[in-house]
Amino acid sequence: MEVSYMTNRYAVILAAGQGTRMKSRVYKVLHPVMGIPMVQHVINQLEPLRLSDIITVVGYGADKVKEQLGSKSRYAFQEKQLGTGHAVQQTKSFLADKKGTTLVVCGDTPLLTTETLAELFDHHQESGAKATVLTASMLDPTGYGRIIRDGSGQVEKIVEQKDASIEQQKVTEINTGTYCFDNQFLFEALDLVTNDNAQGEYYLPDVIEIAQARNEKVSAYQTKDPNETIGVNDRIALAEAEKLMKQRINAHHMMSGVTIIDPDQTYIAPFVKIEPDATIEPGVMIKGKTTIGRGAIIGANSEIVDCTIGEETVIKQSVLHQSILGSRVSVGPFAHIRPESDISDDVRIGNFVEIKKSTVDNASKVPHLSYIGDTEIGQAVNIGSGTITVNYDGVNKHKTIIKDGAFIGCNSNLIAPVTIGENAIVAAGSTINKEVPDRALSIARSKQVNKNDYVKEEKNGQKS
Ligand code: UD1
Ligand code: CA
Repeated sequence: MEVSYMTNRYAVILAAGQGTRMKSRVYKVLHPVMGIPMVQHVINQLEPLRLSDIITVVGYGADKVKEQLGSKSRYAFQEKQLGTGHAVQQTKSFLADKKGTTLVVCGDTPLLTTETLAELFDHHQESGAKATVLTASMLDPTGYGRIIRDGSGQVEKIVEQKDASIEQQKVTEINTGTYCFDNQFLFEALDLVTNDNAQGEYYLPDVIEIAQARNEKVSAYQTKDPNETIGVNDRIALAEAEKLMKQRINAHHMMSGVTIIDPDQTYIAPFVKIEPDATIEPGVMIKGKTTIGRGAIIGANSEIVDCTIGEETVIKQSVLHQSILGSRVSVGPFAHIRPESDISDDVRIGNFVEIKKSTVDNASKVPHLSYIGDTEIGQAVNIGSGTITVNYDGVNKHKTIIKDGAFIGCNSNLIAPVTIGENAIVAAGSTINKEVPDRALSIARSKQVNKNDYVKEEKNGQKS
């Protein structure tokens, strides 16, 4: 759907800070929340707003931030981190001559939603204000800028924690770091911001007081959900953000018909799709672009990354990466499905089995203790316990092909490249390095030799 607005809408994302309080080699806005860097969450939420332009202010880790966001944004460079007001000033050449509304948002507020940002835009435009700040009422406002209102409730100014008086520190309405500005007013006002404060920085929130002084209309929009607006400055807030995002995602799945036994202990990344009647047991992590089919059961402590899991498939305590599983497949407990595996309907992959870059066709079984790598397994194949495909000669990887209906006896080595024919049987304990024709029985093990009466006598009940 095309959306047309009365005026152009722009966004500036502030992402130049180092994030000293994280005590990290990773730049702050790149710290992941539910597996996705914070600044990426911000841009993901901006996307549906169809803005005319998004400018991200980068500084520390500029290359890495640009690499993360790619062409979803344009970039302004802030050489020295002189404050949030100074950061916005760096977008002047992109925006100063544009008519319209500019949303400013911090790269460290990963929980903000499209809906709230859209409401802020609308509120700003309907009120006719030159500046609108998104505020929240926090149980513990420590660390945030406080919203100072006059007797009539009008926002007067924003005072940073470090500049606030004892009285001002008691205010629980905080600046979320998210604002809408009349674009042209914003750049005029920024020229008037000074760094005369506790941190010696050019504060963006000072623009509010400047608007007041110039008798321009200032507005505040208070979010209904303060959890959306937490700013992540340290690892404690990072864990809090992780928890809140996890709850939000899990609630969405439960409302769509997914059973999550213990939502506190279940980690589902933002873009995972799960169909109704799937059950997710505790301790599960589902990451990347995973899709889970109707009625599937993902058993406790499983890790699934970038997989497609079919309907009614059951996974028990297993690790699966970048693979496709059909319907009614059973995996585990303790199986490892490695990338590029394609497992068809009704297959059984049992305990202590590793599958790598292999296809397993319908109704085949690999029930116990096997390594299957670079292999094509046909339909209704039975792989005995302890079978190993010997796919690596120290230099190259080679393929094993096991055709429909083949039966591989326990503890066999299949030295690739090798093909086992249709309905062929490999005797237990065989080491196979040549093709086995269709319907053949292949035995490749040393013959059993029995030495009769080898044990000569018994002394005091003990064998000699
Ligand atoms: C800021 C606000 C505070 C608000 C809080 C909400 C200011 C002065 N304070 O405080 O009122 O309650 O956010 O979370 O704005 N950045 C730059 N360049 C700089 C400085 C910062 O790009 O020179 C970026 C940072 O990377 C960060 C964002 O701006 O993404 C906010 O900076 P931060 O230092 O986290 O501000 P807070 O102290 O949290
Ligand atoms: Ca912050």
